[in-house]
Amino acid sequence: MPKELPFRIGSMLILNKTARVFSKPSKSKIYAFLRSFNFSPGTRFLHKVVLGIETSCDDTAAAVVDETGNVLGEAIHSQTEVHLKTGGIVPPVAQQLHRENIERIVQEALSASGISPGDLSAIATTIKPGLALSLGVGLSFSKQLVNQWKKPFIPIHHMEAHALTIRLTNQVEFPFLVLLISGGHCLLALVRGVSDFLLLGKSLDIAPGDMFDKVARRLSLTKHPECSSMSGGKAIEHLAKQGNRFHFDISPPMHRVKNCDFSFTGLQHVTEKIITKKEKEEGIEKGQVLSSAADLAAAVQHTAACHIAKRTHRAILFCQQRQWLSQSHAVLVVSGGVASNFYIRRALEIVTDATQCTLLCPPPRLCTDNGVMIAWYRMDYSQTLRQDAVKQSGWRKEGP
Ligand code: KG4
Ligand code: ZN
Repeated sequence: MPKELPFRIGSMLILNKTARVFSKPSKSKIYAFLRSFNFSPGTRFLHKVVLGIETSCDDTAAAVVDETGNVLGEAIHSQTEVHLKTGGIVPPVAQQLHRENIERIVQEALSASGISPGDLSAIATTIKPGLALSLGVGLSFSKQLVNQWKKPFIPIHHMEAHALTIRLTNQVEFPFLVLLISGGHCLLALVRGVSDFLLLGKSLDIAPGDMFDKVARRLSLTKHPECSSMSGGKAIEHLAKQGNRFHFDISPPMHRVKNCDFSFTGLQHVTEKIITKKEKEEGIEKGQVLSSAADLAAAVQHTAACHIAKRTHRAILFCQQRQWLSQSHAVLVVSGGVASNFYIRRALEIVTDATQCTLLCPPPRLCTDNGVMIAWYRMDYSQTLRQDAVKQSGWRKEGP
């Protein structure tokens, strides 16, 4: 997802997460055997295997997933370190980096899976939303593969894929509530089926991860010895553990607005003003780390957590009042990079405990942008269709 002048801190990650962790050579052999086996004369056994390609923002990711949700191969290249140097994502730079890496990443995912291109059932690719220049690279590369390998093309909506990822790792029935919080996403939706989303709230300005990144950058946390290789949000969480949030009083955003929307720009600006004031008090230049950085990190993290928890609480109550969530098994799914923040998770846990909901988060590698969710999304779709449980209506906005 695109960010408004995003700033991401961290080291360049070139991960082939699959080679050892996810590739299951013995299973691949079993699938190869099954594919070659005729169960009834003239009928070839069909086992769906999809290649997913994701280039919507600054991660070039690919994965090969089968219809049972097995991740056969996965690879990802993050551009974080490059964008750190330019102070945010510059779309033409992101485009160039996607171009340089996409072929290798797709090849790595395929090799790790042990699946040959001819055995793929389809190629799924993110088509929206995202940075146009980044999306274009994935799309034209997929188009090339589709023509070359003569495979069906599956267009994927990035946010819907994020929202459904939990069904890959947990048995979650529709409807459930989803909270997507990252550097580019901030939305609350009721997921009633695949491609059947009711939008309850969204950020009116920037996403929480973007706010954390901007505050971390203003605090120059890359110069802090303990945080130099951390993303902004992670650095804030790390420092907050050493700080005292009561040293600063930052009021939560939108506390008079009784709906499920979010806002983080005000919080960013208030925090920046405090930083400027503190720099004067401590007699230090902009660009040096404040002695009170940990206290400030604790205060901003606490305020963001309260804001997120409060809006989510309202959304749960709103859905429960209308009996839109299961009375016995109401589920809140939280995903996105910010969902890895334990303080925010704890705040959400308090809300789910109070409302008899279950809080579920995909594992961290599936919370952030990845190719697995892109490959898996339509597979879940076809499975749900088979169960005849889908009423399609796309995204609609509703809320208190
Ligand atoms: O989902 P993601 O990898 O990428 C997109 O933004 O799409 O999320 C990255 C965002 C960054 O803004 C980063 O600062 C934030 O997630 N983040 C965190 C934490 N780890 C990453 N925010 C708060 N606490 C964390 N522990
Ligand atoms: Zn995303």
